[in-house]
Amino acid sequence: MIGDTLSIQGGRSLQGEVTVRGAKNNFPKSLVAALLTSDPCRLRNISQIEDLEIVSGMLRALGGDITIHDHDVEISLAKIHSATKESFQEFSGRSRIPILFAGPLVARFGEAVIPKLGGCRIGSRPVDFHLAALREFGVSVEEDESFYFLKASKLCGAKIKLSYPSVGATEQVLFSAVLADGVTELANAAVEPEVMDLIALLQKMGAIISVDTDRVITIVGVKKMRGYDHTVMTDRLEVASWACAAVATNGDVFVRGARQLDMITFLNKFRQVGGEFDIEEAGIRFHRANGVLQPLILETDVHPGFMTDWQQPFVILLTQAEGVSVVHETVYENRFGYTSALVQMGAHIQLHRECLGSKKCRFGRRNHLHSAVISGPTKLHGAEIEIPDLRAGFSYVVAALVAEGKSTIKNMATIKRGYEDIEGKLRGLGAQIV
Ligand code: EPU
Repeated sequence: MIGDTLSIQGGRSLQGEVTVRGAKNNFPKSLVAALLTSDPCRLRNISQIEDLEIVSGMLRALGGDITIHDHDVEISLAKIHSATKESFQEFSGRSRIPILFAGPLVARFGEAVIPKLGGCRIGSRPVDFHLAALREFGVSVEEDESFYFLKASKLCGAKIKLSYPSVGATEQVLFSAVLADGVTELANAAVEPEVMDLIALLQKMGAIISVDTDRVITIVGVKKMRGYDHTVMTDRLEVASWACAAVATNGDVFVRGARQLDMITFLNKFRQVGGEFDIEEAGIRFHRANGVLQPLILETDVHPGFMTDWQQPFVILLTQAEGVSVVHETVYENRFGYTSALVQMGAHIQLHRECLGSKKCRFGRRNHLHSAVISGPTKLHGAEIEIPDLRAGFSYVVAALVAEGKSTIKNMATIKRGYEDIEGKLRGLGAQIV
């Protein structure tokens, strides 16, 4: 890699083994959970990605003691102080995680200063659910251009219903409710495995949380939480990314750390498209069933549906399938912008405003290009492309691996936000990095 650019000579199949560690969409939140206690905490199996730097930086800015040894983190927040604009200035606009500091900091200090959010530009990504939930707990919310200012003398349990089962808003409610006065009931909650793992961690820390089958989560507030020793779940989004890369290149890759249970929906679609997998104790091996890939119809959805973050590398498989596939994105309104670069590389992809699937989603008739029709198989050829967001970035890497000739991929920093040592892993699997 030169600077922020990676050049790949396509046409080689990926072979070998890759290790996937702690989930990007889970472990930074477990680090935030340490704010709920003065006891020391230990988190194992983290990934070295940007959110680690951001969350540990924010905890240090509060006076916390954070020690990172390879893939384990020790956290001691016994002597932290309240946040100020100055302490969090450098974290403004860089990640989605900082807003989750809100409940724990208000519980501890009666106030919080929270930098406004960044993250991938894949839709408008408002935080209205978060702020409305905090108000239900009795928190006053003010804001300026770069920060939210929150205050409450205490957090009071609340009855909240989300209009959409947002992962972040569910986590916001969990963090605010565990030390709140009384009971909190959250209806239409997210139940993604990353959320369930966070619930398990909070239970270890002393919380009382029950999850009903109808997306209702009930939290009985407790007076005190204690420290934890926790091993982070594997990143199921990264596992799916390598699975697609293996099959798109007609290769054979063992993903160490992959867990079948978190990936049932992905594995079904993967098999339908012509991928095969062998489940082993230590991970999953991905390869093709026979030479040919089949087209299919896919709709992204909240858990237990097909994850929106699995969609982008999967689309590369569909460009190589024999026939017409349809993908309906129902989680984010603007998550197909990345396909224009694939068209430039030779893919046949058309975007539509209609809901092309069995579900009518929130984005139909609102002028969002949120359905894609992909005709295959198409030969891809190398190109110079620039990564627009994290998951699209990995799909560009897969497209470059499949393409004939050399591709130059710019803005690799975005990919590194969610994939540890991507270049080393690609080289280890035999990719030809120029
Ligand atoms: N939404 C609102 N208002 C809110 C919050 C969400 O309208 O206050 C909407 C969003 O605009 C979106 C939908 O609800 O249309 C779902 O958003 P959600 O809150 O569930 O997403 P998130 O918590 O911001 C996490 C992951 C995303 C992943 C989604 C869905 C993290 C840090 N990010 O985002 O991961 O796509 O859940 O599973 O946990 C990625 O890894 O590339 C990524 C984008």
